[in-house]
Amino acid sequence: MTVQTSARESYRPPYQVTNSAETILRFPFPFPEDSYMYSMNVEPHIRSGPVAAMHNTFDIDEHYVAECAEKARILQEDPKRCIVQPHMRAAEWDFVELAMSSLSDQYPQHFSLRREGQDWHWVNRLLGYEQSFVFGDATTLPLPPFEYMARQMQGDFTLHDQREDDLWMDGGMVTAQADWSLKFDLGMSFRQWHAPVPKAAEMGVFDRGLRFLLMLQHEKPVRRLNWTMTINPRLDTSPENFMVWGPDRASVTPDNVADKVHLRVELQTLYRLPRSNAILFSIRCYLMPLRDIMRVPKWRRRLHRVLRDLDPTLSSYKGLDLYRQTVVDFLAPYDDGAPLSSGI
Ligand code: HEM
Repeated sequence: MTVQTSARESYRPPYQVTNSAETILRFPFPFPEDSYMYSMNVEPHIRSGPVAAMHNTFDIDEHYVAECAEKARILQEDPKRCIVQPHMRAAEWDFVELAMSSLSDQYPQHFSLRREGQDWHWVNRLLGYEQSFVFGDATTLPLPPFEYMARQMQGDFTLHDQREDDLWMDGGMVTAQADWSLKFDLGMSFRQWHAPVPKAAEMGVFDRGLRFLLMLQHEKPVRRLNWTMTINPRLDTSPENFMVWGPDRASVTPDNVADKVHLRVELQTLYRLPRSNAILFSIRCYLMPLRDIMRVPKWRRRLHRVLRDLDPTLSSYKGLDLYRQTVVDFLAPYDDGAPLSSGI
């Protein structure tokens, strides 16, 4: 994957984000069937899968530099987008080790890591960082360890302590979220932070999900896809900034729908961390405008069917009600109704 080193892209007005053909083809389209309902869609995060976005521990793509710059801007405006509770210090170092070792192994042209005992040397050529530090000694890094590393990665990350047969949201850096807030969810348990989600608890999805995660093993990460829709290529759709992006949902018309409406997919990966026994939850967000989705015939047909038949409760929870019909009307002429094979 080519990584664009110019920060010309912009995830806020005036929006300027384009996807190369390569990026479109590696997009993790989230619908293996013509209809969608919540399920326990968890699978091993092995280094393969239907699209290249799934082939690395943490996916780096052509938007890396621009996304890191946007993350830095959000953190400057609102430093509380990164909070880690003091009892998660060991998990912070676990995260540093996992991130630095996998990035340097899998993208040696962009990152390198030299270790001599506890003396580590990290190089990030894409952002121009070079840092010698003592692993485990936070005073040798310019920022707290989790923050130092999470700023150098696309996507959001949360850290979860495991105790009392539950997972607790005890840290994270969250700057590209689909309308939820780390500040609000901090300290909550698995069922508490999922409380706003309709239907899934009654379907047993969260009971099964939690039971599964409590037994997650080191070096056996798992992944799942989640999706929603976003108007404009805006990463930060947080409740904190709802006044900025919320009104955009009323701006979709038949003339602008192809460029304004984006399918927002989260490639979520989960890791057991070895020293702390904590769980790392990574949310890697991909934004694809309808105009790019349209280039893959199977995707445009399938998206039409999924949105047309979407459960109204899910549509409303995901915030799609103001423009879903406009999208369905736009896609309908491109769907001949022919059966589609399962999978993406
Ligand atoms: C939604 C976090 C694991 C299923 C959410 C939300 C958060 C979240 C913050 C948004 C809730 C809101 O509206 O405020 C997490 C974290 C996880 C995790 C931190 C792991 C530590 C899982 C697992 C499953 C799951 C394992 C399924 C087995 C869902 C579903 C939604 C959701 C179905 C609704 C998504 C939508 O319709 O857009 N999750 N989750 N989550 N989560 Fe999780």
